[in-house]
Amino acid sequence: MANSYQPLLGKSALVTGAGGGIGKATVLKLAEAGADILMCDKKTDSLQGLADEVKSKGRKAVWAGTDMGVMEDVNRLVEKAKADFGVVDILVNCAAVSPFFGPMLQHDEKLWDKIMSVNLKGPYFLSLGIAKLSIDNKKPCNIINVASAGGMRPDPMLAIYAVSKAGMIHMTRMMATELGPFGIRCNSISPSFIRTRFSQPIWGVPEILDMAVKQIPLGRIGEPDEVAKVVVFLASDESSYVNCENIVVTGGMYAG
Ligand SMILES: NC(=O)c1ccc[n+]([C@@H]2O[C@H](COP(=O)([O-])OP(=O)(O)OC[C@H]3O[C@@H](n4cnc5c(N)ncnc54)[C@H](O)[C@@H]3O)[C@@H](O)[C@H]2O)c1
Repeated sequence: MANSYQPLLGKSALVTGAGGGIGKATVLKLAEAGADILMCDKKTDSLQGLADEVKSKGRKAVWAGTDMGVMEDVNRLVEKAKADFGVVDILVNCAAVSPFFGPMLQHDEKLWDKIMSVNLKGPYFLSLGIAKLSIDNKKPCNIINVASAGGMRPDPMLAIYAVSKAGMIHMTRMMATELGPFGIRCNSISPSFIRTRFSQPIWGVPEILDMAVKQIPLGRIGEPDEVAKVVVFLASDESSYVNCENIVVTGGMYAG
């Protein structure tokens, strides 16, 4: 059944990492709010099914196989967005990798390049490509970056990932500052412990989950749509004067 509250009706949205937990929840919440969706992921197996789900909500849906760590793919995605939608009203940078859990003394350059290219370089240049489209068409876009609480304070055993997310939070501030004069808003969301494949090593092991939950005032980990709801808020005019912010979605973890 159609959602009666559709603040994004007539808008187009591009979501990276759409095959993942938060990405999928974001695609569905944006579609329920009225947006047409271009979704992409490196793994494409679930995207046709997700596109069909979006279409069943009465919205347009297209998808692309995109490796955010490969600049040719990123540039091709901008071209596809232009061909499909003309401009993108809402960009959600959600794709990320964290392939290694362990001490920084074991890191090598290959790991650094992999994580930084997917988590920071790809989103940086995708955002600029989408921003240029919007400036050329005089139709301001809205950029939302899914960062991490790990980018705000030391996150042991995840050093490169945490540095990439700290970079994303500051990239958000830089873009909000330089692109704000064009009417482009840019904000980030920093979650922690959301129940997805990404965090399965935490919630999948009862003893580790128990330790994690003890640090969370709400006494539970978060669900993907609890991040997606914040994306919809930032994407809509309900947040029309919110720019250059980092919204923390942690159930109160790290408070104080
Ligand atoms: N789950 C959490 O607890 C948590 C906490 C903080 C931040 N985050 C952030 O949330 C975002 C979404 O993660 P999630 O929890 O949904 O994890 P997820 O693993 O379910 O989804 C990540 C998605 O990114 C895709 N991806 C990976 N490499 C890619 C590449 N090179 N190009 C394109 N797509 C690629 C994956 O295929 C996957 O579909 C990430 O940016 C992550 O850093 C998650």
